[in-house]
Amino acid sequence: MKVIYTIADLKDYLLKEKQNNKSIGFVPTMGALHAGHISLVDACTRENDICVVSIFVNPTQFNDPNDLATYPRTLDKDLALLEPAGCDYVFVPGVEEMYPEPDTRIFRFGNIAEVMEGAHRPGHFNGVAQIVSKLFAFVEPDDAYFGEKDFQQVAIIREMVRLLGMKIKIHACPILREADGLAMSSRNLRLSAEQRLKAPLIARTLKESLTFVSCKSVREIIDYVVTAINNDPVMRVEYYEIVDGNSLESIGNWRESDYIVGCITVYCGEVRLIDNITYKG
Ligand code: PAF
Repeated sequence: MKVIYTIADLKDYLLKEKQNNKSIGFVPTMGALHAGHISLVDACTRENDICVVSIFVNPTQFNDPNDLATYPRTLDKDLALLEPAGCDYVFVPGVEEMYPEPDTRIFRFGNIAEVMEGAHRPGHFNGVAQIVSKLFAFVEPDDAYFGEKDFQQVAIIREMVRLLGMKIKIHACPILREADGLAMSSRNLRLSAEQRLKAPLIARTLKESLTFVSCKSVREIIDYVVTAINNDPVMRVEYYEIVDGNSLESIGNWRESDYIVGCITVYCGEVRLIDNITYKG
C-alpha cells in the first residue's frame, strides 16, 4: 500500500494503473476509520482492480468551527486498518494541496440540498460537493463507494455526478452497526461512556417504529420517535423526517411513495449523530 501526499504523485501512479487497463475504485473518507469504512473498502477491492482511499478532513463542509476542531484524527490507526483490507493507494493531502486558493464554486442542487442536513448545516453540502468533485477529478475512478448512513449525502453526490457529466458509478453501501444497534460513525469516538450507553436508543427507536407502520400515520410515527428519544435527558432530536427516498420531499401518508426513508439527527450531549431507516422500498 502506497501513501501519497500530492495530487501530482496521485495522478502519476493512477495514470500507470490506467495504462495497464486497471479499473479504479475509490473510497473518499475523512479518516477516523471504523468497520463501516472497511466495508466500503471491501466492496471497492471486490469490484475493482485498484482501490484508492482518500483521508482528508475537509474544512469547507464544516459549518461549525468547533466540530472541525474536534473531528477525530487517527491517521496511524487508519493506515494500519487499510493495509490488511487490500487498499492499494491512500491519498492524504494537506489543506494547502486541496485548496491552494479558496474554492468559490456554488453548487445548486435544489430541494435535495435544502432539507434536513441542508437546512441545519448551511453550506455543508456545497463543501461536500467542492471536495468530492475535486477528488473525483484527480482520481477519475470508475466506481466510488459511500455509506448509506449519510443518506442525503449519497443523493447529493449522485446529483453532482449527473450535473458535472462524470462517468462514475456511485455505490451506496449498507449501514454497519455496533452489536447494540448504534450506527458506526467516526463521531462515536467522542461519546462519553454514559453517552455511548444511551446512544443505541436512536437505532432501537427507529427499529421499533417500523412495527407501527401498518397502524400509525406518518405524523404519529414522527411524534413517537421524537418523544421516545427526547425522553432521555442526554438526547435531543434535531429533526426527524420521513421522506421520499429519491426526491427527499417529506411525505404525508404511506401511500405517497414506493420508497420511504426516515432520516434522523440527534445530539447525544454535544455529539451530533445521524441515522436512518427504510420503511418502504
Ligand atoms: O462522508 C464523508 O466522510 C465526507 O463527507 C466525504 C464524502 C469524505 C467528503 O469529505
